[in-house]
This record gives sequence, C-alpha cells and structure tokens, in this order.
Amino acid sequence: MAKVSDFNGKWALVTGASAGIGVALARELAGHGARLILTARRKDRLETLAAELTAKGAEVRIVVADLNDVAAPQQIYDATAGAGFPVDILVNNAGLGQYGGFAESPVEQELSQVRVNCEAVVRLTRLFVPHMVERRRGWVLVLASTASFQPVPYLTTYAATKVFDRFFALGLAEEAARFGVKVTALCPGSTESEFFDVARAGAFKGPKIQPAEEVARLGIAALARGQRLIIPNLKSGLRAFLIRFLPVGLITRYVEKAARPTD
Ligand SMILES: NC(=O)c1ccc[n+]([C@@H]2O[C@H](COP(=O)([O-])OP(=O)(O)OC[C@H]3O[C@@H](n4cnc5c(N)ncnc54)[C@H](OP(=O)(O)O)[C@@H]3O)[C@@H](O)[C@H]2O)c1
Repeated sequence: MAKVSDFNGKWALVTGASAGIGVALARELAGHGARLILTARRKDRLETLAAELTAKGAEVRIVVADLNDVAAPQQIYDATAGAGFPVDILVNNAGLGQYGGFAESPVEQELSQVRVNCEAVVRLTRLFVPHMVERRRGWVLVLASTASFQPVPYLTTYAATKVFDRFFALGLAEEAARFGVKVTALCPGSTESEFFDVARAGAFKGPKIQPAEEVARLGIAALARGQRLIIPNLKSGLRAFLIRFLPVGLITRYVEKAARPTD
C-alpha cells in the first residue's frame, strides 16, 4: 500500500504555489520530505514560501512563469526536468475563475481560464508524464472542483474547465496505472484562498469555507494511495452524489437565479 512517506526525497512541481491551496499543497509535500519546485507569476510570494520551507530543511527551487503564455510549460520543463531535476510528482494546481455574465465579459478573460486551467495542464502533464512512465513511477494531482459536477451559470467557463480537469485526470489515471503512475482529481468545495477575490465571486463562497491545509492534507494522502478522485469535504461530497439523481436543468436554473448579478 503506497504511503505519503513514498514522497520523501522526490521532486514535486507545484503550479500556483504563490497562494491558497497551492501554498498548502507545497507545505504538505515538504512535510513528507519532498523536494519542491514552486511556480507561479508572483516571484516575491514564491521566494517567501521557499525561504519558509528551506528553513524547515526542504530543498526548494522556484520558477517564475505565466501559464497564460503557451510557451510557459516548456520553460518550466527546461528549468526542471530538462536541467536534471527528475520530477516524480506533478501538481497541476494553478487556476482561476471569473464571475459574471458571459455575454458581457471580455473574451480574453474567458480564454485565460481555458489556457491556465486546461491547456497548461495538458501541456505540463504531456511534458512530465513520459518520464514517469519510463521510470515506472510518478504521481499527478489535478485540481478540479465540485463545480465540475453541474453547470454553474455566471461561472460558466470556469465550471466547464473544471469538468475538463476531472475527466482529464480520470482518463489519464486509467491509462497510466499500468505504468505505475498514479493520477488523482482533487475536487474541493469552497476553500480558503484568494480564489473568490480574484474571481469576484463572493456569491459562491458559501457560509462554511474549508481551510486550504485540510484540502491539501486529504488531497496529498489520496494521491499517495492512488485514489482517483477525492472530494475533501463530506458535505460537498454528499451534494455531488445527490446531484446525480436530480434533473441537471433544474439545478442549473436554480443556480442561475441564485447567482444572477444584481448590477
Ligand atoms: N478556493 C476554492 O474554493 C476552490 C475550489 C475548488 C477548486 N479550486 C481550484 O484550486 C486551484 C487553486 O486555487 P486557489 O483556490 O488556491 O486560488 P488562489 O488563491 O487564487 O491561487 C491561484 C494560484 O494560481 C496561480 N495562477 C493563476 N493564474 C496564473 C497564471 N496565468 N500563471 C501562473 N499561475 C497562475 C496564482 O499565482 P500567481 O497569481 O502568482 O500567478 C495562484 O498561485 C485552482 O485550480 C482552483 O480552480 C479552488
């Protein structure tokens, strides 16, 4: 039975390691002895986290990159695996959403969600997974969301990108299993992070918000044991289960009414 102690001494690449769940995932992996490569756009944040983890004895590198740029995954690869750091653990965490009416939102705002949440995930995974297959060892964590279990009006593109992430992880998990590579879709509900500020989506925050540390702890444990999907919150898990038995149109109509922008 695989355990989190298997991460000891392995290189883990965490995208979106400058805030929220990414920071918590990096801390959790470092706590299990992993060596960390942290990437995001905000260099100062990465440096602060790197200093914190280094002080605790972890080996850490940072790579500043904008995943909205189609060339970024290759740059990250060149600075890591390409420079002799074998990445055994890939954490596709970076992501963003944007709340608002689709018809009024700038198209670039919609497309950046597709690029960061989907295209960069595919590009990075395609770069690192062949080495994992070769070594017959590796772990890939993909951040999906409970927003992947039903359409979400006014977070329309975001929810669609998260369906992509969940199905991408589940399909790849099946393909990669026979090569000893484990893939997990982590589907948090409302979690403490900068997400709702960036997305200007306070309407979706809900009264009870889960600490990012708890999401990270449960997500990393699931990844270690090769669990293909985890909803790290009992209530969200129950809701995602029950939703299967309701007409999707009804739920979508309800969400549209509840989340419709007032101005
Ligand atoms: N919070 C929630 O309730 C929740 C629920 C379900 C799923 N999720 C998922 O969890 C993941 C992490 O989100 P979070 O909640 O921790 O949000 P967050 O606090 O806003 O963090 C997002 C991270 O993604 C990075 N990022 C965003 N755009 C980027 C870009 N163009 N290039 C590189 N990095 C970029 C940010 O770094 P820089 O800005 O420094 O580049 C930041 O480190 C996302 O995939 C999100 O969809 C969150």
